[in-house]
Amino acid sequence: MTLNSFLTSVLKILAVAFAIMMVKINVNTDSKDFITTVMDRRSIYSISKDIQVSDTKIQEIVELGIKYAPSPYNSQTIRAIILFKEHHEKFWAITTEILRAKVPPERLASTEAKMKAFGQGYGTILFFEDTAAIKELQEKYNNYADELLIHTQHSAGIVQFIVWAGLESVGLGASLQHYNPLVDKAVQKEWNVPTNWKLIAQMPFGQPLQPPTKKEFQPVNERIKVFN
Ligand SMILES: Cc1cc2nc3c(=O)[nH]c(=O)nc-3n(C[C@H](O)[C@H](O)[C@H](O)COP(=O)(O)O)c2cc1C
Repeated sequence: MTLNSFLTSVLKILAVAFAIMMVKINVNTDSKDFITTVMDRRSIYSISKDIQVSDTKIQEIVELGIKYAPSPYNSQTIRAIILFKEHHEKFWAITTEILRAKVPPERLASTEAKMKAFGQGYGTILFFEDTAAIKELQEKYNNYADELLIHTQHSAGIVQFIVWAGLESVGLGASLQHYNPLVDKAVQKEWNVPTNWKLIAQMPFGQPLQPPTKKEFQPVNERIKVFN
């Protein structure tokens, strides 16, 4: 090999390495920084199917929350099901059907409009607690059994926040809903959910159609005490 061809090979390798690095940098800059994301995350109720984010990316965001959220004694008791497209629409159709039989006639129209708006989104994430895993945890640390029930709920909140903020960071809008336990049985049947997975929240998401309403903040300095 001449010196010239050796140098050309080295340059080619460097060029490929640089290209890979740039792709990685681009992937990393796909989403907003953490603080901006926390400030921008809102409840977005008006959503459409017209999204620019892949199903894989959305799945990665849910995996991020499920995998990295802290949990009491690292018990990792939270589960999720992601319903895309017609599965998502089916969930909101089922929920509408169940609510129709429950809500008073004067609230039916507004309830149906709400369900329709959620159904117009792209997908819904269902969050569950694994009751078998929680029971095992309570048995292992039986002195704290009652507290652990609360702490596992905190962990669920952290998972939900990561996913909610993660969706915001890629430009999607979401809200947090609670049609459990009304829909539990139907969900279990339709998506073959393990009986020990207890539904705790639903997060419909999609392309935001409207900016969120103005949010009032209570004075932060009345809510935090600082000693330094
Ligand atoms: C634990 C929790 C439960 C909530 N439950 C519901 C709910 O069932 N339905 C709903 O529309 N919004 C629900 N929300 C959304 C709140 O109403 C909303 O986060 C709050 O008004 C602040 O608005 P923001 O999300 O735009 O910042 C819930 C939020 C949290 C944190």
